[in-house]
Amino acid sequence: MAHRGALLVICFSALLFTCQAGFFDLFRATWGGPNIHPNDLTNSVEVSLTADGMGATFDTNNTYLFGSFSAQIKLVPGNSAGTVAAFFLISDGNASVHDEIDFEFLGNVSGQPYLLHTNLFANGTGNREQDTNLWFDPTADFHTYRIVWNHNLVMWLVDEIPVRVYHNIENIAPLSFPTLNPMLVSGCIFEASEWATEGGAVPIDYSYAPFNANFQNFTFDACVATSDGGASCGTNYAGNSWELPPYDTFGSDRENQLAWVRQYYLHYDYCYDTERYPTPPIECQYNL
Ligand SMILES: *[C@@H]1O[C@H](CO)[C@@H](O)[C@H](O)[C@H]1NC(C)=O
Ligand SMILES: *[C@@H]1O[C@H](CO)[C@@H](O)[C@H](O)[C@H]1NC(C)=O
Ligand SMILES: *[C@@H]1O[C@H](CO)[C@@H](O)[C@H](O)[C@H]1NC(C)=O
Ligand SMILES: *[C@@H]1O[C@H](CO)[C@@H](O)[C@H](O)[C@H]1NC(C)=O
Repeated sequence: MAHRGALLVICFSALLFTCQAGFFDLFRATWGGPNIHPNDLTNSVEVSLTADGMGATFDTNNTYLFGSFSAQIKLVPGNSAGTVAAFFLISDGNASVHDEIDFEFLGNVSGQPYLLHTNLFANGTGNREQDTNLWFDPTADFHTYRIVWNHNLVMWLVDEIPVRVYHNIENIAPLSFPTLNPMLVSGCIFEASEWATEGGAVPIDYSYAPFNANFQNFTFDACVATSDGGASCGTNYAGNSWELPPYDTFGSDRENQLAWVRQYYLHYDYCYDTERYPTPPIECQYNL
Protein backbone atom coordinates (compact mmCIF):
# COMPACT_ATOMS: atom_id res chain seq x y z
CA MET A 1 0.00 0.00 0.00
CA ALA A 2 1.55 3.29 -1.05
CA HIS A 3 2.38 5.68 1.72
CA ARG A 4 1.01 9.13 1.29
CA GLY A 5 2.32 12.42 2.63
CA ALA A 6 0.88 13.68 5.88
CA LEU A 7 -0.72 16.64 4.17
CA LEU A 8 -2.72 14.38 1.92
CA VAL A 9 -4.25 12.34 4.67
CA ILE A 10 -7.98 12.30 5.11
CA CYS A 11 -8.81 14.84 2.49
CA PHE A 12 -12.39 15.42 1.77
CA SER A 13 -13.73 17.74 -0.83
CA ALA A 14 -16.95 18.64 0.92
CA LEU A 15 -18.50 22.04 0.38
CA LEU A 16 -15.77 23.48 2.54
CA PHE A 17 -13.02 22.12 0.28
CA THR A 18 -10.92 21.34 3.30
CA CYS A 19 -8.04 18.94 3.53
CA GLN A 20 -7.85 17.51 7.02
CA ALA A 21 -4.53 16.86 8.63
CA GLY A 22 -5.20 13.74 10.63
CA PHE A 23 -7.64 11.15 11.89
CA PHE A 24 -8.67 13.07 15.00
CA ASP A 25 -9.31 16.21 12.95
CA LEU A 26 -12.07 14.36 11.18
CA PHE A 27 -13.21 11.85 13.80
CA ARG A 28 -13.61 11.53 17.53
CA ALA A 29 -13.50 8.37 19.62
CA THR A 30 -16.95 7.66 21.03
CA TRP A 31 -16.23 4.23 22.51
CA GLY A 32 -13.10 2.27 23.28
CA GLY A 33 -10.61 5.05 22.67
CA PRO A 34 -7.60 2.90 23.64
CA ASN A 35 -8.64 0.43 20.91
CA ILE A 36 -8.47 3.07 18.15
CA HIS A 37 -5.00 3.30 16.58
CA PRO A 38 -4.71 5.90 13.83
CA ASN A 39 -1.66 6.18 11.63
CA ASP A 40 -1.72 9.57 9.99
CA LEU A 41 1.27 8.77 7.80
CA THR A 42 -0.65 6.03 6.01
CA ASN A 43 -4.06 7.71 6.36
CA SER A 44 -5.32 4.63 8.18
CA VAL A 45 -6.79 3.50 11.46
CA GLU A 46 -6.91 0.13 13.14
CA VAL A 47 -9.78 -0.65 15.50
CA SER A 48 -9.57 -3.58 17.88
CA LEU A 49 -11.93 -5.75 19.87
CA THR A 50 -9.86 -6.88 22.81
CA ALA A 51 -10.14 -9.89 25.13
CA ASP A 52 -11.85 -7.75 27.77
CA GLY A 53 -14.84 -7.37 25.43
CA MET A 54 -14.12 -3.75 24.60
CA GLY A 55 -14.51 -2.78 20.97
CA ALA A 56 -14.28 0.70 19.49
CA THR A 57 -16.39 3.31 17.71
CA PHE A 58 -15.30 6.49 15.96
CA ASP A 59 -17.67 9.15 14.63
CA THR A 60 -17.10 12.23 12.53
CA ASN A 61 -17.19 15.51 14.39
CA ASN A 62 -19.30 16.88 11.56
CA THR A 63 -22.72 15.79 10.41
CA TYR A 64 -23.63 15.52 6.72
CA LEU A 65 -26.87 15.64 4.78
CA PHE A 66 -26.40 13.72 1.50
CA GLY A 67 -23.11 12.84 -0.14
CA SER A 68 -20.76 10.08 -1.18
CA PHE A 69 -18.84 8.40 1.64
CA SER A 70 -16.11 5.85 1.09
CA ALA A 71 -13.44 4.02 3.01
CA GLN A 72 -11.09 1.21 2.18
CA ILE A 73 -11.47 -1.55 4.75
CA LYS A 74 -9.58 -4.76 5.54
CA LEU A 75 -11.47 -7.07 7.85
CA VAL A 76 -10.48 -9.26 10.79
CA PRO A 77 -8.52 -12.26 9.48
CA GLY A 78 -8.92 -15.84 10.69
CA ASN A 79 -11.62 -16.81 13.15
CA SER A 80 -13.74 -13.70 13.46
CA ALA A 81 -16.97 -15.42 14.56
CA GLY A 82 -19.11 -13.28 16.83
CA THR A 83 -17.48 -10.03 15.74
CA VAL A 84 -19.00 -7.23 13.68
CA ALA A 85 -17.11 -4.39 12.05
CA ALA A 86 -19.11 -1.61 10.44
CA PHE A 87 -18.93 1.53 8.32
CA PHE A 88 -22.15 3.52 8.40
CA LEU A 89 -24.07 6.77 8.50
CA ILE A 90 -26.19 7.46 11.56
CA SER A 91 -28.32 10.38 12.67
CA ASP A 92 -26.88 11.96 15.78
CA GLY A 93 -28.41 11.68 19.21
CA ASN A 94 -30.50 14.86 18.84
CA ALA A 95 -32.46 13.59 15.86
CA SER A 96 -36.20 13.35 16.42
CA VAL A 97 -36.29 10.07 14.54
CA HIS A 98 -33.53 7.62 13.80
CA ASP A 99 -32.00 7.34 10.32
CA GLU A 100 -29.14 5.02 9.43
CA ILE A 101 -27.43 3.54 6.37
CA ASP A 102 -25.17 0.58 7.13
CA PHE A 103 -22.41 -1.63 5.91
CA GLU A 104 -21.85 -4.30 8.56
CA PHE A 105 -19.37 -7.13 8.23
CA LEU A 106 -20.36 -10.27 10.10
CA GLY A 107 -17.44 -12.41 11.23
CA ASN A 108 -17.07 -16.05 10.23
CA VAL A 109 -15.86 -19.43 11.38
CA SER A 110 -13.57 -21.76 9.53
CA GLY A 111 -14.56 -22.49 5.97
CA GLN A 112 -17.39 -19.93 5.89
CA PRO A 113 -17.08 -16.58 4.15
CA TYR A 114 -17.64 -13.17 5.58
CA LEU A 115 -21.17 -11.84 5.18
CA LEU A 116 -21.82 -8.26 4.19
CA HIS A 117 -24.94 -7.09 5.97
CA THR A 118 -26.72 -3.89 4.86
CA ASN A 119 -29.66 -2.05 6.35
CA LEU A 120 -31.43 1.28 6.10
CA PHE A 121 -33.45 3.09 8.75
CA ALA A 122 -35.82 5.94 7.91
CA ASN A 123 -38.12 7.67 10.36
CA GLY A 124 -37.02 5.21 13.05
CA THR A 125 -37.85 2.08 11.05
CA GLY A 126 -35.14 -0.37 10.01
CA ASN A 127 -35.80 -4.08 9.46
CA ARG A 128 -34.61 -3.81 5.88
CA GLU A 129 -31.75 -6.28 6.09
CA GLN A 130 -29.88 -7.81 3.21
CA ASP A 131 -26.89 -10.16 3.44
CA THR A 132 -24.50 -10.64 0.58
CA ASN A 133 -21.41 -12.80 0.20
CA LEU A 134 -18.39 -11.12 -1.34
CA TRP A 135 -16.58 -12.25 -4.49
CA PHE A 136 -13.18 -11.85 -2.85
CA ASP A 137 -11.57 -12.41 0.53
CA PRO A 138 -12.20 -9.14 2.42
CA THR A 139 -9.62 -10.07 5.06
CA ALA A 140 -6.72 -10.38 2.59
CA ASP A 141 -6.58 -6.80 1.35
CA PHE A 142 -8.28 -3.42 1.40
CA HIS A 143 -11.42 -2.95 -0.67
CA THR A 144 -13.47 0.19 -1.19
CA TYR A 145 -16.92 0.40 0.39
CA ARG A 146 -18.99 3.39 -0.58
CA ILE A 147 -22.41 4.73 0.32
CA VAL A 148 -23.93 7.20 -2.14
CA TRP A 149 -26.87 8.98 -0.54
CA ASN A 150 -28.71 11.62 -2.55
CA HIS A 151 -32.26 12.86 -3.03
CA ASN A 152 -33.08 10.05 -5.47
CA LEU A 153 -31.48 6.95 -4.02
CA VAL A 154 -29.05 5.24 -1.72
CA MET A 155 -26.57 2.83 -3.23
CA TRP A 156 -24.08 0.57 -1.52
CA LEU A 157 -20.99 0.02 -3.68
CA VAL A 158 -18.17 -2.47 -3.17
CA ASP A 159 -15.20 -1.62 -5.38
CA GLU A 160 -17.75 0.43 -7.35
CA ILE A 161 -19.98 -2.63 -7.91
CA PRO A 162 -23.46 -2.02 -6.48
CA VAL A 163 -24.56 -4.63 -3.95
CA ARG A 164 -27.80 -2.83 -3.21
CA VAL A 165 -29.96 0.13 -4.22
CA TYR A 166 -32.80 1.80 -2.34
CA HIS A 167 -34.84 4.35 -4.27
CA ASN A 168 -36.58 7.35 -2.79
CA ILE A 169 -40.30 6.66 -3.11
CA GLU A 170 -41.47 9.20 -0.55
CA ASN A 171 -44.10 10.39 -3.01
CA ILE A 172 -45.67 6.93 -2.64
CA ALA A 173 -44.55 5.98 0.88
CA PRO A 174 -44.00 9.07 3.05
CA LEU A 175 -41.05 8.96 5.44
CA SER A 176 -39.60 5.82 3.88
CA PHE A 177 -36.33 7.55 2.88
CA PRO A 178 -33.79 9.39 5.01
CA THR A 179 -34.05 13.05 4.01
CA LEU A 180 -34.49 14.98 7.23
CA ASN A 181 -31.61 14.15 9.52
CA PRO A 182 -27.98 15.06 9.10
CA MET A 183 -25.85 12.00 9.82
CA LEU A 184 -22.49 11.21 11.34
CA VAL A 185 -20.10 8.89 9.54
CA SER A 186 -18.97 6.13 11.83
CA GLY A 187 -16.73 3.09 11.96
CA CYS A 188 -16.64 0.44 14.66
CA ILE A 189 -15.92 -3.06 15.83
CA PHE A 190 -17.87 -4.86 18.52
CA GLU A 191 -18.95 -8.28 19.79
CA ALA A 192 -22.34 -9.54 18.66
CA SER A 193 -22.21 -13.20 19.62
CA GLU A 194 -26.02 -13.29 19.89
CA TRP A 195 -26.62 -12.71 16.17
CA ALA A 196 -23.52 -12.12 14.06
CA THR A 197 -22.45 -15.59 13.02
CA GLU A 198 -24.86 -18.25 11.82
CA GLY A 199 -27.72 -16.50 13.56
CA GLY A 200 -25.89 -16.51 16.89
CA ALA A 201 -25.03 -20.22 16.85
CA VAL A 202 -21.29 -19.47 16.95
CA PRO A 203 -20.17 -17.09 19.70
CA ILE A 204 -16.89 -15.24 19.82
CA ASP A 205 -13.77 -17.13 20.89
CA TYR A 206 -11.68 -14.64 22.81
CA SER A 207 -8.62 -16.85 22.59
CA TYR A 208 -8.24 -15.28 19.10
CA ALA A 209 -8.31 -11.71 20.47
CA PRO A 210 -7.45 -9.03 19.64
CA PHE A 211 -9.67 -8.84 16.57
CA ASN A 212 -8.41 -6.03 14.35
CA ALA A 213 -10.08 -4.29 11.42
CA ASN A 214 -8.31 -1.63 9.37
CA PHE A 215 -9.76 1.40 7.61
CA GLN A 216 -7.97 3.80 5.28
CA ASN A 217 -8.52 6.55 2.70
CA PHE A 218 -11.75 7.99 4.04
CA THR A 219 -13.21 10.11 1.23
CA PHE A 220 -16.33 12.14 1.89
CA ASP A 221 -17.74 14.21 -0.93
CA ALA A 222 -20.70 15.51 1.01
CA CYS A 223 -22.69 18.44 2.28
CA VAL A 224 -21.58 19.46 5.77
CA ALA A 225 -24.65 20.08 7.89
CA THR A 226 -23.02 20.85 11.22
CA SER A 227 -23.52 24.61 11.27
CA ASP A 228 -27.10 25.00 10.05
CA GLY A 229 -28.62 21.59 10.79
CA GLY A 230 -28.63 20.80 7.09
CA ALA A 231 -30.99 23.56 5.98
CA SER A 232 -28.79 24.55 3.06
CA CYS A 233 -28.01 20.92 2.15
CA GLY A 234 -31.71 20.11 1.93
CA THR A 235 -32.71 23.02 -0.27
CA ASN A 236 -29.78 24.18 -2.37
CA TYR A 237 -28.51 20.85 -3.55
CA ALA A 238 -29.00 20.49 -7.31
CA GLY A 239 -25.39 21.21 -8.30
CA ASN A 240 -23.73 18.81 -5.87
CA SER A 241 -21.66 16.10 -7.55
CA TRP A 242 -23.41 13.27 -5.69
CA GLU A 243 -26.78 14.43 -7.08
CA LEU A 244 -25.56 14.59 -10.68
CA PRO A 245 -24.76 11.97 -13.32
CA PRO A 246 -23.65 9.26 -12.89
CA TYR A 247 -25.37 9.22 -9.48
CA ASP A 248 -28.72 10.86 -10.23
CA THR A 249 -30.17 7.56 -11.40
CA PHE A 250 -29.08 3.97 -10.86
CA GLY A 251 -28.57 3.28 -14.57
CA SER A 252 -28.56 0.16 -16.69
CA ASP A 253 -24.89 -0.72 -16.15
CA ARG A 254 -25.44 -0.80 -12.43
CA GLU A 255 -28.72 -2.72 -12.93
CA ASN A 256 -26.70 -5.41 -14.72
CA GLN A 257 -23.98 -5.48 -12.08
CA LEU A 258 -26.53 -5.69 -9.28
CA ALA A 259 -28.30 -8.53 -11.09
CA TRP A 260 -24.98 -10.41 -11.17
CA VAL A 261 -24.40 -9.82 -7.46
CA ARG A 262 -27.91 -10.90 -6.59
CA GLN A 263 -27.76 -14.00 -8.77
CA TYR A 264 -24.49 -15.32 -7.40
CA TYR A 265 -23.92 -13.75 -3.99
CA LEU A 266 -27.21 -12.76 -2.37
CA HIS A 267 -27.64 -14.66 0.89
CA TYR A 268 -30.68 -13.01 2.48
CA ASP A 269 -33.14 -10.32 1.44
CA TYR A 270 -35.94 -9.13 3.73
CA CYS A 271 -38.02 -8.58 0.60
CA TYR A 272 -38.17 -12.36 0.10
CA ASP A 273 -38.70 -13.25 3.76
CA THR A 274 -42.36 -14.20 3.59
CA GLU A 275 -42.37 -15.37 7.21
CA ARG A 276 -41.56 -11.86 8.37
CA TYR A 277 -43.38 -10.08 5.57
CA PRO A 278 -46.28 -12.06 4.05
CA THR A 279 -46.66 -8.98 1.84
CA PRO A 280 -43.28 -7.50 0.93
CA PRO A 281 -42.76 -3.92 2.15
CA ILE A 282 -43.79 -1.42 -0.49
CA GLU A 283 -40.25 -0.32 -1.39
CA CYS A 284 -39.24 -3.85 -2.40
CA GLN A 285 -40.79 -3.70 -5.87
CA TYR A 286 -38.74 -0.59 -6.67
CA ASN A 287 -35.37 -1.88 -5.52
CA LEU A 288 -34.88 -5.17 -7.36
C1 LIG B 1 -13.09 16.51 17.01
O1 LIG B 1 -13.47 16.06 18.29
C2 LIG B 1 -12.37 15.69 19.12
C3 LIG B 1 -12.94 15.09 20.37
O2 LIG B 1 -14.03 15.85 20.85
C4 LIG B 1 -11.52 16.93 19.40
O3 LIG B 1 -10.40 16.56 20.17
C5 LIG B 1 -11.06 17.49 18.06
O4 LIG B 1 -10.37 18.70 18.29
C6 LIG B 1 -12.23 17.75 17.16
N1 LIG B 1 -11.71 18.13 15.86
C7 LIG B 1 -12.23 19.14 15.17
C8 LIG B 1 -11.56 19.41 13.86
O5 LIG B 1 -13.17 19.77 15.55
C1 LIG C 1 -13.50 -16.23 6.87
O1 LIG C 1 -13.74 -15.86 5.51
C2 LIG C 1 -12.63 -15.31 4.84
C3 LIG C 1 -13.08 -14.98 3.44
O2 LIG C 1 -14.32 -14.33 3.47
C4 LIG C 1 -11.48 -16.32 4.83
O3 LIG C 1 -10.32 -15.73 4.27
C5 LIG C 1 -11.15 -16.73 6.26
O4 LIG C 1 -10.17 -17.73 6.24
C6 LIG C 1 -12.41 -17.28 6.93
N1 LIG C 1 -12.08 -17.63 8.31
C7 LIG C 1 -11.89 -18.88 8.69
C8 LIG C 1 -11.56 -19.08 10.14
O5 LIG C 1 -12.01 -19.81 7.91
C1 LIG D 1 -42.75 8.10 11.58
O1 LIG D 1 -42.40 7.91 12.94
C2 LIG D 1 -43.39 8.29 13.84
C3 LIG D 1 -42.80 8.20 15.23
O2 LIG D 1 -42.35 6.88 15.47
C4 LIG D 1 -44.61 7.40 13.66
O3 LIG D 1 -45.64 7.79 14.55
C5 LIG D 1 -45.11 7.52 12.23
O4 LIG D 1 -46.15 6.61 12.00
C6 LIG D 1 -43.97 7.26 11.25
N1 LIG D 1 -44.46 7.56 9.93
C7 LIG D 1 -44.38 6.68 8.93
C8 LIG D 1 -44.96 7.13 7.62
O5 LIG D 1 -43.86 5.60 9.03
C1 LIG E 1 -9.12 6.83 -2.14
O1 LIG E 1 -10.52 6.75 -2.36
C2 LIG E 1 -10.98 7.51 -3.46
C3 LIG E 1 -12.50 7.43 -3.48
O2 LIG E 1 -12.95 6.13 -3.40
C4 LIG E 1 -10.34 7.01 -4.75
O3 LIG E 1 -10.76 7.81 -5.83
C5 LIG E 1 -8.82 7.05 -4.62
O4 LIG E 1 -8.25 6.47 -5.73
C6 LIG E 1 -8.39 6.31 -3.36
N1 LIG E 1 -6.96 6.50 -3.16
C7 LIG E 1 -6.14 5.48 -3.05
C8 LIG E 1 -4.70 5.82 -2.83
O5 LIG E 1 -6.51 4.30 -3.12
